[in-house]
Amino acid sequence: EQIEKNNFDHFMLKEIYEQPNAIKDTYRGRLHAEEGIIRMAGIDDNLERFLNARRIVIVACGTSWHAGLVAEYIFEDLARIPVEVEYASEFRYRNPIINSDDVVIAISQSGETADTMAAIKLAKEKGAFVFGVCNVVGSSISRETNAGAYTHAGPEIGVASTKAFTTQITVLTLIALKLAKAKGSMSNTDFHMHLQELETIPQKIELALEANDHIKEVAFKYKDARNCLYLGRGFNFPVALEGALKLKEISYIHAEGYPAAEMKHGPIALIDEEMPVVVIATRKGHYEKVVSNIQEIKSRQGKIIGIVTEGDTSVRELADHVIEVPDTIESLTPLITTIPLQLLSYHIAVMLGKNVDQPRNLAKSVTVE
Ligand code: G6P
Repeated sequence: EQIEKNNFDHFMLKEIYEQPNAIKDTYRGRLHAEEGIIRMAGIDDNLERFLNARRIVIVACGTSWHAGLVAEYIFEDLARIPVEVEYASEFRYRNPIINSDDVVIAISQSGETADTMAAIKLAKEKGAFVFGVCNVVGSSISRETNAGAYTHAGPEIGVASTKAFTTQITVLTLIALKLAKAKGSMSNTDFHMHLQELETIPQKIELALEANDHIKEVAFKYKDARNCLYLGRGFNFPVALEGALKLKEISYIHAEGYPAAEMKHGPIALIDEEMPVVVIATRKGHYEKVVSNIQEIKSRQGKIIGIVTEGDTSVRELADHVIEVPDTIESLTPLITTIPLQLLSYHIAVMLGKNVDQPRNLAKSVTVE
């Protein structure tokens, strides 16, 4: 097993560090930045279905559902296609309105999740075209869907999903860009810029991983917290949800992810000097607004851990700790801001002596409804 772990202490840590290569493997042969082309057979062969879609409905569970939420922002922003994201387990039980001009994208690392499978069957019955984004080749979901695109993350052993998440976002970004190009919803310059930037993401993740020792120090300070709040806005709101899920899953610390501005409608009541608040505050989009959210936390004595863009000064002045990540274009920030959150929860769980790779009560794939 030690050989399989490649000298990492846990599969989860190994898989966190595998992300630069997993993302490269996922875009290899698909992304041709120089030529300005994205090749994906599953999309090319069904392009009309996508272009004629009234909307895209994404179904998934757990971390894959969070990847779906990130994709909602990306699809709507780049390809201007309306997207709805559903928990696969809820989808079936509210008599969903699905028509033959809907495209359903099912996201599943294992390709075996029972709720996601049931949602796919229902969508097919209603005449929708169902596209799968799976990691496990030949899995039940990859066989049940009408077409699909694999993530090439390699086997993910740690129950808490890491590289599956970032490779799912990579595939979904490629799809969104491809559709944006076909629809003409993005300028050529913008399209090329996105392709080139996507190609640099593995390198930028390498740089984000260099903060590991610093993140470990931050983890040590907060390992005994009983609650933790994660905040983000826009593309990084789902990253806040995912960060909170990672902490819950492996450290058993209660954590909540929230859109930063929604904090004032509830979670702000929880903030005191005992409450660590992780805020994704990269210098993009809603930066100024997030800074004012941070001020609100500070004035209530909350402990602030800011995930910031390299060279940031405003958040540094307010926060108790900052973790820097390399700059990128806004729609690609989730691929990078996720990394420190994975490491933070990993180190906290290790320090608490928890079983990181096999947390209690959780299963790698849930094959019962
Ligand atoms: C389980 C796993 C999660 C995963 C979820 C969905 O809860 O512990 O890590 O995100 O299932 O799994 P899937 O294989 O469909 O992505």
